[in-house]
Amino acid sequence: MAEGSRVAEAPKLFDHLEAQASDSLLALIAMAKADPRPDKIDVGVGVYRDAAGGTPILRAVKAAERILLETQETKSYLGSQGDPRFVELMKGIVFGQGALSDERIIGLQTPGGCGALRLGADLIEKADQDARIFVGQPTWPNHAPLIGCAGVEMVDYCYYDKATTTICFDQMMDAFEQARAGELILLHGCCHNPTGADLNLDQWHAVAEVVSRRGLVPFVDLAYQGLGRGLEEDAEGTRLVVEAADQALVAHSCDKNFGVYRERTGSLFVKASTRQAAEVILGNLLGLSRTMWSMPPDHGAAVARVVLEDPELRADWRAELQEMCARIRSLRSRLAAYDPRLAYIADQNGMFSMLPLSSDEVVALRESHGIYMANSGRFNVVGLSDESVERFAAALVEVMDG
Ligand SMILES: Cc1ncc(COP(=O)(O)O)c(C=O)c1O
Repeated sequence: MAEGSRVAEAPKLFDHLEAQASDSLLALIAMAKADPRPDKIDVGVGVYRDAAGGTPILRAVKAAERILLETQETKSYLGSQGDPRFVELMKGIVFGQGALSDERIIGLQTPGGCGALRLGADLIEKADQDARIFVGQPTWPNHAPLIGCAGVEMVDYCYYDKATTTICFDQMMDAFEQARAGELILLHGCCHNPTGADLNLDQWHAVAEVVSRRGLVPFVDLAYQGLGRGLEEDAEGTRLVVEAADQALVAHSCDKNFGVYRERTGSLFVKASTRQAAEVILGNLLGLSRTMWSMPPDHGAAVARVVLEDPELRADWRAELQEMCARIRSLRSRLAAYDPRLAYIADQNGMFSMLPLSSDEVVALRESHGIYMANSGRFNVVGLSDESVERFAAALVEVMDG
């Protein structure tokens, strides 16, 4: 048989793939970029922006990179757990220094918070193929693919009512009362994405109580620690529920609070009921991570380690994080002061809030005002500058008044 005819007859493996819709947020960013209006406003983007509209490399990160350039002696493999010193430092940041000696909590480095969420979901599915996780809606759109593709069943409940801009706390607690012992609940540790609506401390206490009483397993997504109320304050809820739980998972990201997004820097922590069980879990996590990324990327974690080990760099990192927080808070206050219907924005945390807009109103903002945000009404507060915040608020009010 001639070579040409064999190739022609070969089954077309990839021809059976169905086209996938492109990421709507990426499409939005492209649309905003292509808009020629000089005063357009892009609040769809999901990264921190400074007053000049840039996403700068933090001072301490730049200094740590210089140190690494001069002192790093090898790029040899580190192993599936990543950098153990980074993991230990992160354990202190997430759970507090008092938890460092808690051998029931094990951790490993992951490619960003996404890697931690996916690995956690794989561990859950491996441990129990019938596992269910309760997920408040709306949630970060990537939660469903990351957790669902591992095969873990997701049970939705209402977390936030967009129309009244309030957390559906009673509905959330009812859902947790329905969960069976050993079932999981997904919680945003702080700076809820996409709504900005965080539980207050009383509410966290109530969640911790139900977790303890009903034997639930919290899976906390802590992707914005330090960008809400402060580094310690943003971990309070996570610490309360983990303390109350016999078993728990925490997916942590350094990508936002160190501003190292593309370096993919995160960690997954799991609390087990005993030290022996924790060791077994770590072994399973290392096995699972080997089937996905083998070993996590190093650079972001090495940078975070250098920053956290050097008292001066650590202090400067915390100071710059505070500056970022202050900018977020100041923009929130200015929006809130503009119109009573925006007042709720001042009480929310992190980069995102969700506006009570219909998708037609979101389109109207885009077409008539050159304002780009996700169809859900989620917008990035720090996508605004000192100059654009008033124009943004005025356009919102105009659209809301119809
Ligand atoms: C709620 C939430 N969790 C996790 C992540 C993942 O972060 P990373 O970029 O570190 O993978 C993000 C990123 O946008 C997020 O918003």
